[in-house]
Amino acid sequence: MKILLTGGAGYIGSHTCVELLDQGYEVVIADNFDNSSKKVLDRIKKITGKNVILYEIDVKDKMDVDKLFDEQKIEAVIHFAGFKAVGESCAFPVKYYRNNVDTTLTLLESMKEHNVNNFVFSSSATVYGIPESVPLQEWMKPGCINPYGRTKYVNELILKDAADADENLSVVLLRYFNPIGAHKSGLIGESPSGIPNNLMPYITQVAVGKLEQLGIFGDDYETRDGTGVRDYIHVVDLAKGHLKAIEYALSHKGCELFNLGTGTGYSVLDIVKAFEKANDIKIPYTIKPRRAGDIAEFYADPKKANKELNWHTENTLEDMCRDSWNWQKKNPNGYE
Ligand code: WQD
Repeated sequence: MKILLTGGAGYIGSHTCVELLDQGYEVVIADNFDNSSKKVLDRIKKITGKNVILYEIDVKDKMDVDKLFDEQKIEAVIHFAGFKAVGESCAFPVKYYRNNVDTTLTLLESMKEHNVNNFVFSSSATVYGIPESVPLQEWMKPGCINPYGRTKYVNELILKDAADADENLSVVLLRYFNPIGAHKSGLIGESPSGIPNNLMPYITQVAVGKLEQLGIFGDDYETRDGTGVRDYIHVVDLAKGHLKAIEYALSHKGCELFNLGTGTGYSVLDIVKAFEKANDIKIPYTIKPRRAGDIAEFYADPKKANKELNWHTENTLEDMCRDSWNWQKKNPNGYE
């Protein structure tokens, strides 16, 4: 069975590709390498011993997407491709809407014409915005607070409407919380360009000596130690959630939404201490002012995915810290 991964050379896409190949699926990757590296393909081969079928295309381009579906019998699509930097989305909202929404519309049109009826969408917990309460549950009202989150929510609405209008179409929407970690081999991992925005890649770059010290954005939040609390999920657990989503899409119709998180919140200081303990490395830090747009506490209620997808996270915080470091120390400059 062939699965198309758009943006499959990216951080979550590549880890999902490995899990699919290990489970015996065939994988087609459509990626323009706008925000990923071709080296990932060799690394996937090293890990799994298998090749993927690559289409170096922009998924907004209907002719290229039509050609892919003409040539490849695709059973399901996992749509990872998209811009994902919150700050950049505030500076360039039109670029974000054009890219993140047009890709989905092009895929839906071409899938309809080629009788491809299963769509798994890479959404984000950022759709919830500033929560009225935690843990976050799927029925809660979205409250996007940035253009990136709004492009994800607009995609969710488009996909829901498409599924409501087409009895053959099965859609699964996955809202990710905070993915960190890497495949145990250390051959694939998170490779942000420039100074990392996210916490764990910043920590690992301090650990490897590329950055001097961590700046902790605020220690005066209403949390147990004053620093921000998030639901960190191992990227391999997240990847395995996509395999369950594929199985669910193949055996259901309509549109269903799931949180993919652990259900446990950890503070920034928890992460720093866990990283230091797991890897026996000191992470120097300084307290900085709060970052605009940050919230105090944010973590998932994963019960719906646990039950309906029969999916449970297996990796501990120690695993996440150890695997993050294993990737970074073997690849100090990421895929560069
Ligand atoms: C985590 C915590 C920061 C960096 C973002 C996106 C979200 C999703 C996941 C795509 C917060 C603190 C961070 C640093 C710090 N991406 N921090 N110093 O903001 O929860 O979510 O990534 O879907 O859309 O918003 O993740 O890793 O940036 O921050 O103190 O140098 O670490 O304040 O409390 P975030 P993050």
